[in-house]
Amino acid sequence: MATLAILEFPDPRLRKQAAPVTQFDTALGTLIDNMFETMYAAQGIGLAATQVDVHKRLLVIDVSENKDSPQVFINPSFEVIEEELSEYDEGCLSVPGFYETVSRPRKIKVKAMDRDGQPFELIAEGILSTCIQHEIDHLDGKLFVDYLSNLKRQRIRSKLEKEQRKSA
Ligand code: NI
Repeated sequence: MATLAILEFPDPRLRKQAAPVTQFDTALGTLIDNMFETMYAAQGIGLAATQVDVHKRLLVIDVSENKDSPQVFINPSFEVIEEELSEYDEGCLSVPGFYETVSRPRKIKVKAMDRDGQPFELIAEGILSTCIQHEIDHLDGKLFVDYLSNLKRQRIRSKLEKEQRKSA
């Protein structure tokens, strides 16, 4: 396994629209394993393929405390089953060091495929619901900073650009 480089805001590759996964082969399995390794190494709870510059509709998530409940979502979609919103201080491995409150539907029904291409459904609420919605946004080129005011987003952008220049 290997860890992959994570793209950081405002990298334009984070704005690409991801394409559906059609091949459930060993290359996909390797990508999934490497994405988990990358997510755990970075102490994240979710990672979308977009963030490692692979523009396929694939997410890995583990919201468990002991980091022992890996979940894979391929070609995921969801419908809101409760309009009520939950607020979380969201962070993102592509926006390192920043946490901001975002509201999203509290309870959703998710449809996706597992690593073998088998379809499944689940009801998600709380942090899992938020995490799945945040990660699906990545596949559509959207980031949690898009929910903030322009001013806040610009501040985050200039701070990150400054750090990226330093480490370049
Ligand atoms: Ni993210």
